[in-house]
This record gives sequence, C-alpha cells and structure tokens, in this order.
Amino acid sequence: MSDIVADPAITEKADVLRTSLHRHNYRYHVLDDPEISDAEYDRMMQELIALETAYPDIHSPDSPSSRVGAAPLDKFETVSHSIPMLSLDNGFEDSDITDFDRRVRKYLDTDDTVLYTAEPKMDGVAVELVYEKGRLILASTRGDGVKGELITSNVRTIRSVPLLLQEEKGEKIPSRLEVRGEVFIGLEEFRKLNEKRVRKNLPAFANPRNAAAGSLRQLDPRITAKRPLEIFFYGVGIITDIVSNSHWDTLEALSRLGFRINPLIRPKITIEESLDIYRELGETRHLLEYDIDGMVIKVDSLGLQERMGEKSRSPRWAIAYKFKAIQETTRILDISIQVGRTGALTPVAHLDPVNIAGVTVSRATLHNEDEIRRKDIRIRDTVLVQRAGDVIPEVVKVIESKRTGEETVFTMPHICPVCGAGVYREKDEAVSRCNNISCPAQVKARIRHFASKGAFDIDGLGIRLIEQMVNKGMLGSYSDIFQLDKERVQRLERMGLKSAQNLLNAIEKSKKITFARFIYALGIRHVGENVADILADKFENTDTFSSSSLEELEAVDGIGPEIAQSIKHFFEQDENRKTVRHILDSGVQFLPETRPEKGIGKGYLEGKVFVLTGGLEEMTRTQAKKRIEAAGGKVSGTVSRNTDYLVTGKSPGSKFDKAKKLEIKILDETDFKKLISEA
Ligand code: IVH
Repeated sequence: MSDIVADPAITEKADVLRTSLHRHNYRYHVLDDPEISDAEYDRMMQELIALETAYPDIHSPDSPSSRVGAAPLDKFETVSHSIPMLSLDNGFEDSDITDFDRRVRKYLDTDDTVLYTAEPKMDGVAVELVYEKGRLILASTRGDGVKGELITSNVRTIRSVPLLLQEEKGEKIPSRLEVRGEVFIGLEEFRKLNEKRVRKNLPAFANPRNAAAGSLRQLDPRITAKRPLEIFFYGVGIITDIVSNSHWDTLEALSRLGFRINPLIRPKITIEESLDIYRELGETRHLLEYDIDGMVIKVDSLGLQERMGEKSRSPRWAIAYKFKAIQETTRILDISIQVGRTGALTPVAHLDPVNIAGVTVSRATLHNEDEIRRKDIRIRDTVLVQRAGDVIPEVVKVIESKRTGEETVFTMPHICPVCGAGVYREKDEAVSRCNNISCPAQVKARIRHFASKGAFDIDGLGIRLIEQMVNKGMLGSYSDIFQLDKERVQRLERMGLKSAQNLLNAIEKSKKITFARFIYALGIRHVGENVADILADKFENTDTFSSSSLEELEAVDGIGPEIAQSIKHFFEQDENRKTVRHILDSGVQFLPETRPEKGIGKGYLEGKVFVLTGGLEEMTRTQAKKRIEAAGGKVSGTVSRNTDYLVTGKSPGSKFDKAKKLEIKILDETDFKKLISEA
C-alpha cells in the first residue's frame, strides 16, 4: 500500500480535514466552546484516518489522527532538558509567605512592592514540550530535573495539547518554544476509570496523580490515548520570538498560541492579596474538577526573576504555599446503608469524629459493595479519610498495620433496610438497588415523577404538597393519589376548599392518559419517554407488557438487554404489581395515541436545526423534540453556526449567551409554540 501516492486533490482534502480537526479540537478541549457536534467531529476524523490509511505518504506525526496513539515502543529514551526543570520551596503558613516576600525584597535590595502571579498548584505530572516552527517535535517527563524520559507519542494523544500552533490570534509562531505544564486526570474521569478497571479485575489507581503518571508511562501510546489525560501549562524553558518582561504576559502569549492556561491564575498581585487568594482557593478547592495541593506564588517580572536566579534545586523567585492535609486517619465505628431517592443503596461509614481541614467529619461514603471489597474495609478498621472533589468525604484506604483482629467484615443486605423489599444489582453495575416504587425512601421523588408533565401531568401536585401528604400518611404510593380525601386535602398548609377541589379535578382529568405516558409514569429504571413510546407501540395493554419475557422485550426494536432486564426486575417485585393494579382499578382509561402524522407540516421546518435550553413550562423536552421532528426539523445538543433556532425555557444556560454571540434566532416558549402550531 505504501507505494500508492496521493494525487494533489487527495493531499489537499486531507490538509483541509486536518486544519479543521485541529481547530475543532482546540475549541472543544482548550476553549471549552465547541462549534460542531461530537458526531460530526468523529465523522471528519474517520474520513481523515481512511485517507491516511489509503495513502500513507500523506500521513504526518502532527496529524490530529495521531491522537489515537502511534505504534508501541520497547523502552523510553532519555532526553536532557535544555534548562533544568526545578522544583519549588514549600510554605505552610502565612508567615512563611511574608518571610518569602521579605527575602525577595532583601535580595533585590528594594522597599518597593513586588508583584506576584499566583497559580493553583496542580497535583499531577510535570512535562516539557518542545515545538519547532509551531510543530510539536518532542515531549518529556521532568525526570530528575536534568534528564527525563521521551514520551512524545503519548503526549500527542492528549486532546488539550496543541500538535500544531495556530497564528490565529496575532501571536507570531516562535521558531523554538519549550513549554512546561502539568498533566492530570480530572476527579470524575478518575472515578470512572477506576470503576472500569475494577470491573475488568484490574487494580485500581490510588489517586488521580498515580493514574496520570501511570498513563503517561505506557510503552503503548494506544493505551495512553484511552486515558482521560488533560494539561495546564504554567511556564517555559527556552523560547525565541516571544518578547515579554512578565511571567503572566508570557502565559497570555502561550494562550494566544493555543495552550491551555488555568483560568484561576491571578496575575500581578501583592503578597497580601496572595494570602487572601490562598484562603479563597482553599475554601473552594473541593469544588474543583481536579486535585490541587497548594498555590504557587511567582515573582511576575522576568527581569527580577533573572536577577534572583536559583539555589541548587529551586528558584529564589517562587514558593509553593501548600494546603493543609485534607486527609486524616480515624476509626470506622459502624457501617450502615442509606437508600437514595432513586433506590440506590449506599454503604456509609460512621466514623469516630475527626477534624479535616477545619470541618468535623463523622460519616464517609463507601460508594458501593465493590469499593468495600476492593479496599477491604471492615468495621472497626483505622482508615484514611479525605474530603475532596465533592462535599461527601470518602474512605481512601485502610491502615492495615493498625488491625487488631477485632475487625468484622461487612456484607450488603439482601433486603432494603427501609421497606424490606428485595434488593437487586444489575449486571455490570456496582450499585445495589431497591426497586419497590412505594419504598418510603423513594416515594416522594417517585410521586413527583408520576405527576409530572410527561407522565400523569397532574396540575398543582408539586413537591411541597407531596412532601406534606407523605409526611401526614396520606400518600404512600402512586395509587393513593386516586383515593385522596377532599376534607383532608383541604386542611393542608396553603390549601383551602378551592385549591383542594382544583387538585381533585386535575387528578380526575389525569386518569385519561395514553398508554405510553402511563408506562413512563411508572418510573421504571432506563424507561424514559422515548422507550415508553416504543413499548406502548409494541404491547397492547398492561397485562401483556408486565408479563412479557426477557426474550420478548429484547426482541423489540430499540430495547436493549439493560432496559429489558430493568422492566423484568420491576414487575418481579410484588409491591410494584400490586400498585399498578390499584392504579388501573382507580378508573384509569387509556386514550388512543395521538402521534403527529408524518408529513404534517413537513417542509415547514425542513432542515432547520433547533437547540433547546432551560425547562419548558408546558411540554417536556422530548415532546418538543417530537414536534420539531414531525415538522421536518432537527434537534441538536450544541449551539453552533449551523443552529437556526435556540428555544429557551426557564433559566437558560450558557447556550443562550453563545446563541446571542452568534446572532442566532432565539425563541421563548410562546414563540416556539406559535411556530410549531403554524407547522
Ligand atoms: S512552577 C521553577 N507552577 O510543582 C518553577 N509548578 O514542586 C517550577 N506544579 O515539578 C515549577 N503546578 O510539577 C509550577 N502552577 C505551577 C505548578 C507547578 C504544579 C508542580 C510541578 C513542579 C512541582 C514543583
């Protein structure tokens, strides 16, 4: 194949694809502002890979296709850094930082205020990347600071690493550029990665830093390509052509060239301001999507940095102000089970209360049964607990050396501790669930769903009212809605004769319902509006539906094994069958399905692309989507230049700002309903 030479048209086609893939990759991973859908990106990538496979002579190492990973290596070569990659001195309290500032001014022999740039200290792996004439030619680990390992093919797979620099923002591309940054894995991605590994019986990574380091040191770049690595850049080695006398200005120039810079960096501040920022960062770090272990404070002026120079391993012009440990050791006194609103059973450790970075922690989540097994956590164990990522503290690991032999192994219950119904665990899922729709732990959220717009659509039955009724024992399951006593409803808070009557009227009206909405209302896991539609089409009535076998369910187009399994589990539960029977006995009548006939209004919205944002008052998103599609339009998830209309509901998100910027027509719910009814 390699002797097939591409004609100029093919070469040009590949070039066009590469340029646009580079650009869309940058918009997605660096700017967090995509212009096209993921599917469209994948389609372009597949097209490029097909061309490069057919005509290997047009392939180049900085092609976006190299992000899927090059051929494996036998070993890593070592490479010297042209300027050593130093480490940092640490400070642990405010006085260490004010002392640092005093040393800086003494060294520079000045009483003037020195300005600093403060940056989150990323807890990942330091790397250096070398670009020549805008092309990434080499990447290495920090190693011992003088020499590192050559990991170019692995670094090429990281989506936020530019492979080819762009001159788009008016920054001249330097002939040589050495940039430094920290490779890391975000907390959510880290959790998912570990879950996947445990499912495959592979050892889990201890923390995101180890996961990032392990992923970067793979001899097979195709493995690295599958790991969710990200990067923030924070400095340079040798550079040509960028003229700057300030560290921050250099970072801004890097940003214009397409490098991802942490948006939390605070440029050109005084040392006092840096102390406030450290406190702010410490208070909000648990909300970040990645781990940081402190704040780096750097003298901003490059001229002053040069005058100060460095000691043996660290510069005199920077210091890392480390955070206090967010991990402490304590003992597990007991383990109990919490049942969530969706029926998930979560084991929770009751701890001997311990202060972690200013907060008393007495409970920690153990996530699920697999996590307990994997970490071999037992009641009475001494454990390391951390507050991170989200607000719920978690047990990191057991301190095995503290075991006394009195520890007891915990086993997940087979029945729900709240309602006593059987517990089940789906294949390939770590979580055990109670799927009794009348389980008191779940009933409020479930009734809210049952009464919602896409389901029974009971006007006036909001969460506040449901809570009151459940607490007073008036509602314990879906079917109780149809037995409500007007006298009692009337006596509830913020009710009265009129509103009670209105509610009962709305309930009566809701009994006329399509079979699809009825199925959706039941709240069977994985059965959303679309799936309910498919099921209602296929099954005649509740009897044939509820008694269908796994095979019959799986044979339905659009119903996979996961959904089939979930439906089966649902109807295996006696309580659920009883509730469904009671609902039907309350006089529910099924209406014929009013599907928009294909072809109605077709042409009216033909080819028009809609994006929906925020909650609509009078219809669900799925209903809106169906109506758009019935009139020939399409619904997309992201706003781009191809979008024709943005439909905004309550509290629209960032899509609104973006649509405004792109001057896309914005419709509120009233405009949208008008447009759709014209169709
Ligand atoms: S500057 C000479 N900035 O911390 C300056 N380092 O202890 C040296 N790190 O090896 C590095 N975030 O891996 C710098 N914003 C940041 C950083 C940062 C994380 C790491 C880096 C370095 C280590 C030094």
